[in-house]
Amino acid sequence: MAAKSTPEAPAAAAPPARDGTAAHGAPPLFRPGLEGVPATQSAICDIDGRQGILTYRGVPVDQLAHHSSFLETAYLLIWGELPTIFQLNAFQQDVQMHRRVSFRIRDMMKCFPAGGHPMDALQASAASLGLFYSRRALNDPQYITEAVVRLIAKIPTMVAAFQLIRKGQDPIQPRDDLAYSANFLYMLTEREPDQLAARIFDACLILHAEHSLNASTFSARVTASTLTDPYAVVASAVGTLAGPLHGGANEDVLEMLEQIGSPDRVEAWLDQAIASKQKIMGFGHREYKVKDPRAVILQGLAEDLFLRFGHDTMYDVACRLEEVAADRLGPKGIFPNVDFYSGLVYRKLGIPRDLFTPIFAIARTAGWLAHWREQLGANRIYRPTQIYTGSPQRPWLPLESRPAAL
Ligand code: ACO
Repeated sequence: MAAKSTPEAPAAAAPPARDGTAAHGAPPLFRPGLEGVPATQSAICDIDGRQGILTYRGVPVDQLAHHSSFLETAYLLIWGELPTIFQLNAFQQDVQMHRRVSFRIRDMMKCFPAGGHPMDALQASAASLGLFYSRRALNDPQYITEAVVRLIAKIPTMVAAFQLIRKGQDPIQPRDDLAYSANFLYMLTEREPDQLAARIFDACLILHAEHSLNASTFSARVTASTLTDPYAVVASAVGTLAGPLHGGANEDVLEMLEQIGSPDRVEAWLDQAIASKQKIMGFGHREYKVKDPRAVILQGLAEDLFLRFGHDTMYDVACRLEEVAADRLGPKGIFPNVDFYSGLVYRKLGIPRDLFTPIFAIARTAGWLAHWREQLGANRIYRPTQIYTGSPQRPWLPLESRPAAL
C-alpha cells in the first residue's frame, strides 16, 4: 500500500517505481530520515505543523485532553469513532479484567537486573506476551479485540511491577475499583492517588497516545507488515521509543534543567550549547515549526499541579529557557516539543525519572495498536530500496593473500 499513489494522494516528486528503479530514468531520490517521504496512507492522526494543530481521528487533542479519558481516547484511535456509553463501559470492563499479568511474567521480571533500564524491561516483558498468547489469527476480529485489550491492560501493570521488583518488593495487584490512570499510580506507589493527580496523569496519557508516523510507530507498522503477532509489534515499537532522539528525550530534559540550575544561568548556558552545536533536549520537531500543541497543554497541566502541590524551581528554569531559545532557535522553527514539560509534570507526581519513557510507552500503545489494525487492513510488506555505496564486485581472497592491516 505504501508505494501506490492514487488520485486522492498525489505522489511525491520522482518516487521510485514499484520495482525499485527510478521513475522516468532519474536516479532514485535519497532523503535521510525519509523526511517528506509518505510511507503510508493513514486516517488516524493529523498534524498541522505550521499552525500547531493535532487531531486524533479528526478530534482536536486539546478537546480530548480536557474532556476525554485515556481509555475513551484509545478507543477512538483504535476503532475509529468515539464510543457510545455502552461501548465505553464494555471496553473499560474488558481492560480492567485483563490488568493482571501471569506470575510467570512477574517471576521472569524478578530475574532482570535491578539496574537495567525500565524500557528494556518493558520491551522484554511485552515481547514475552507472545509466548503466553501464542495463537495468531490476524483475520479473526475477536483475536484483534483481545490483543488490543490485553496490551492496553497489561503494559501499565508490567511497568509498575518492574518498578517494585527492582526495589526488592513484590508487585501489587491492580485494584478493580480504580480507573486506568489511578490504578497505575496506585500500583506504582501503593497509595491511592489524589484525584487531581490522577486526572492530570490521564491527560498526559491522552497527549502522548498518538502522533502519526513517528519513529516508533513506523517501526510498529514495519513489524506489523510482516504479519507477526501484535506483541512483537509493540515490543519493537518500545525499543524504538527508548532512544534519546525520540521518547527518551523527556529524561534528558530534566537533567539539562538541573545542569543549568537557575534562570539567571540560562542565557550563558544556551549560548555555549548552541556554539558547541549541542542539541537542546525537548526542543525541535520534524513536523512542527511552532510550539508543539502538546507542550502548550502540558505546561498548563504542570502549572495546575504546582498550584496544588507546590512550586518547582526547575519550572522557572524551563520558562526562561523557552523565552531565551525563542530568540536563538525560534527563527529556525525550533520550539519546545512534547517532552519539554512532561518531565516536570511527572516529577511533581513523584515518578522516578527513568519511568518517564515507559509511561510514554503506556500511552503510545494505543497509537501503535491503531496503526497495527490499519496496517493489517491494507497490508503490503515494507521493503524499501537502497542506494548501494559499497565496493564494486571483487573476489574472495585466501587469508595468506590478504594485504596486512595498516
Ligand atoms: N537544539 C538545537 N538545534 C536543533 C535542535 C535542538 N533541539 N533540533 C534541531 N536543531 C537544528 C539542527 O542542529 C539542524 O541545524 P542545521 O540545519 O544548522 O544543521 C536543524 O535544526 C535540523 O535538525 P535535524 O536534527 O536535522 O532535525 P530532525 O527533523 O532530523 O530531528 C529531532 C528532529 C530529532 C526531534 C531534533 O529536533 C532533536 O534532536 N531534538 C532534541 C531531542 C528531542 O527533544 N527529541 C524529542 C522529539 S519529540 C518525540 O520524539 C516524542
